[in-house]
Amino acid sequence: MAKEVLGVLCSGRGTDLQSIIDAIADGKLDAEIAVVLTDKPDVMALERARKAGIRNVCVNRKEYEDRESFERVLVAELEASGVTLVILAGFMRILSPYFVHAYSGRIMNIHPALLPSFGGAHAHRDVLAYGVKISGCTVHFVDEGMDSGPIILQATVPVLDDDTEETLGARVLEQEHIIYPKAIQLYVEGRLKVEGRHVRILEQ
Ligand code: GAR
Repeated sequence: MAKEVLGVLCSGRGTDLQSIIDAIADGKLDAEIAVVLTDKPDVMALERARKAGIRNVCVNRKEYEDRESFERVLVAELEASGVTLVILAGFMRILSPYFVHAYSGRIMNIHPALLPSFGGAHAHRDVLAYGVKISGCTVHFVDEGMDSGPIILQATVPVLDDDTEETLGARVLEQEHIIYPKAIQLYVEGRLKVEGRHVRILEQ
């Protein structure tokens, strides 16, 4: 019996989801994914879940009048599936305090930049426009702010002179696929101790 039951929320392609599916299959991550939820229909993430035999549900945001009614359905789905840890994997919506409280301290997100720099929905574009030489990705716990919760792991990549959003994005994504399963496994092992803004990684 796996120790943690994951619910993964996605909006699109789902390569971060895939890295988690693969890490579980390879025995590197001791968890199970009970459900994959998306806010849009016909996205690759649903297909990836289907292929892996994971329950998958589209909760189409467009069918809900407001964020609260949409999120109530998400939370109900997660609870019905016995989810203990919520994983945001390319989920392009900001969660309300209602959702964050429902899974307080038990929501992780990955952001494709080195937070607290370049938060928001266009990280690679903003990184390139600013001219920084190093970028990367950040796994963090989710709090009520945007991209503002305590940082668990980060990885860096160089930003090259001829980078486009696509080439930089691909380089960052390679690192995402390494550190997201790692961060979840640390959680599973009970090795993440949150002290205010700091996440201490306990020795095994
Ligand atoms: C990833 O780069 C992830 O860091 C980013 O969306 C991409 C999803 O890729 N998330 C955010 O920007 C959240 N604000 P994927 O659909 O292939 O996993």
